[in-house]
Amino acid sequence: MSQESRQVYPDADALAMAGAVEVARLARQSVAEHGIFTLALAGGSTPRKLYTLLGTDPTFRDFPWEHTHLFFGDERHVPPTHIDSNYLMVSSTLLASKLVPAAHVHRVRAELPDANMSALDYDVEVHSFFTEGIRSGGFPRFDAILLGMGPDGHTASLFPDSKALEEKERWVVANWVEKFKSARITFTFPVLNTARTILLLVAGADKADMLHSVLVANRNAEIYPVQRVRPMDGDKIWLLDRAAAARLPRTY
Ligand code: 6PG
Repeated sequence: MSQESRQVYPDADALAMAGAVEVARLARQSVAEHGIFTLALAGGSTPRKLYTLLGTDPTFRDFPWEHTHLFFGDERHVPPTHIDSNYLMVSSTLLASKLVPAAHVHRVRAELPDANMSALDYDVEVHSFFTEGIRSGGFPRFDAILLGMGPDGHTASLFPDSKALEEKERWVVANWVEKFKSARITFTFPVLNTARTILLLVAGADKADMLHSVLVANRNAEIYPVQRVRPMDGDKIWLLDRAAAARLPRTY
């Protein structure tokens, strides 16, 4: 059974705390149910505060890190030391706490010369982790996947008019992004839509028009990549700040 819900918070700080509380709730729930919590992280700038809170705020001192495995929903095709690296962002926030066992951090080896090699390598990494419960041709079921949304309606590195949008079989692909003239490595829609919970974290006034289009004007359409995130048997939770939700009807 799938549910979609939305919560709006006054500002980016309140949003980050609410997101961290939700991740911690899902972690405790998953560990209680099946002894482990698998979380795929989002890149970009919005989740930075959330990662820092999880790693430093006493509210989360009982977070079950020893039972948690971290993955990356997407990565830029750059080395882990590069300023654009999502791994670098996560390692300077959440991982700086040294709370997460190093072996539980499954990063994309985006330093490989060819993005397709990085994607294949990560595909093998994720396959070797999710061996149980995968029906043939099946997809891994993450306990939670954190996603963001761009002003163009992209999510993970599934950009409008890009090849990866149509991938139906592979778990991880390299995706050329024309506007950045660079490649990304990203989970595909089948992986996203197999998750137990999708947490969509969206902040800032520059997202307000797209959110109105996605959630109001074209709410039943699949025009933008983020609209194709429809967990088959899971929840889709939008966590928004007031600036991003500025054009949504107050009922939201
Ligand atoms: C990435 C992300 C991407 C991000 C959106 C929003 O690697 O860039 O995974 O999908 O979530 O671009 O980015 P901001 O949070 O920076 O607005």
